[in-house]
Amino acid sequence: MKSFDVVIIGAGAAGLMCAISAGSRGKSVLVLEHARKVGRKILMSGGGRCNFTNMYTEPDNFLSQNPHFCKSALSQFTQWDFIAMVEKHGIPYHEKTLGQLFCDNSSKDIVDLLLSECQAVSVDIRTRAEVTAIEPLASGFQVNCGSQSFRGQSLVVATGGLSIPSMGPHGFGYKIAEQLGLSMVKTRAALVPFVMDKQWQSCFSELSGSSLDVVATAGHQSFREGMLFTHKGLSGPAILQISSYWRSGEKVTLDLLPNTDIAAELITARESSPNIYLRTWLARLVTKRMAEAFCRHWFEDLPLHQLSNKKIQEIATKINHLSIMPNSTEGYKTAEVTLGGVNTDHLSSKSMMVQDIPGLYFIGETVDVTGHLGGFNFQWAWASGWAAGQHL
Ligand code: FDA
Repeated sequence: MKSFDVVIIGAGAAGLMCAISAGSRGKSVLVLEHARKVGRKILMSGGGRCNFTNMYTEPDNFLSQNPHFCKSALSQFTQWDFIAMVEKHGIPYHEKTLGQLFCDNSSKDIVDLLLSECQAVSVDIRTRAEVTAIEPLASGFQVNCGSQSFRGQSLVVATGGLSIPSMGPHGFGYKIAEQLGLSMVKTRAALVPFVMDKQWQSCFSELSGSSLDVVATAGHQSFREGMLFTHKGLSGPAILQISSYWRSGEKVTLDLLPNTDIAAELITARESSPNIYLRTWLARLVTKRMAEAFCRHWFEDLPLHQLSNKKIQEIATKINHLSIMPNSTEGYKTAEVTLGGVNTDHLSSKSMMVQDIPGLYFIGETVDVTGHLGGFNFQWAWASGWAAGQHL
């Protein structure tokens, strides 16, 4: 059985960064990846341009049962550290919006960066190598992979979450956690579109492909970003963000025109332009297509002088405080991430090591730390991977 200082399961963002971090400290590192290629989620991310970090990364951008847990790793390897790596490799990038940094060319630039850093510190990466079982030894861990077994003095679990089931076996990290008696925070799909019931679908599907800037609120959390109407319901950044805070059976409130006090504007317009129709007036604020759909499904298309104050209030409520009850989300099939995972109570926030099992580490999406949309999930993968690599 071949031995290494470190065996890492999973060559995604977290696993590869951990390999670089450990390798740069002179450790012998083996990375085992079940897929044919490494970094498949990096390749598909950011619409093919990988939103690799966010300039405004703060602990507040992460959800976890313990909101303090992410702080140590995020401070050991910051967004600026990753940006420095990107610049060292001469990868052209740009800020798209809200501090989100994307490659100018292709996500492949980021995978190439990671592979070249791994090569520089002699990391052994094996693809088509699915780990099927692990076993703690008197010293270190045995990792079974097909007909082969390896021994690692340290074992790092970087197997990701449950999203995009078509990409292969998922949840192996959670299985290991359970095997070793670690508790889990219940998992669910996050950063995921909403599916609406038939009543809403009839209006929303008519607008499929249209988008507008909204404020989406669930509980005490709000996001102001774009929202996209789809055949099944709602998507777009504002919806993906709020989906992480939404629980089945709860309502979401949407302000479809955040900068406009519809009640006040309609009362003024009723005086100044009494004969124009509601649909025509609305079409000055949203697209003609939206104004028509809203009037067909929600409002009577009357001349403004026929609108009572009560009617105006009803219209304003629908536009500035639209209360919707999603039926469900689209689930892991389209979710960008998995909320929940290995309970952080078991882990050292400094090193990501399981407190009671020296030498065993969990990093990246397997852990109960989930970022907002906008490059935060990769930043968590880089930071948690780096932190583990520095301490194992
Ligand atoms: P990841 O899932 O990346 O890696 C785990 C690896 O382990 C995989 O390669 C898997 O094959 C391997 N593995 C699993 N079980 C195994 C086993 N038993 N044996 C061997 N190997 C095994 N985030 C962001 O910040 N910016 C963005 O632009 C995007 N965009 C985006 C788009 C889409 C479509 C998705 C689905 C997700 C994103 N994300 C994102 C989220 C981001 O991709 C995600 O948070 C990170 O990839 C998580 O990195 P990990 O390394 O933890 O897991």
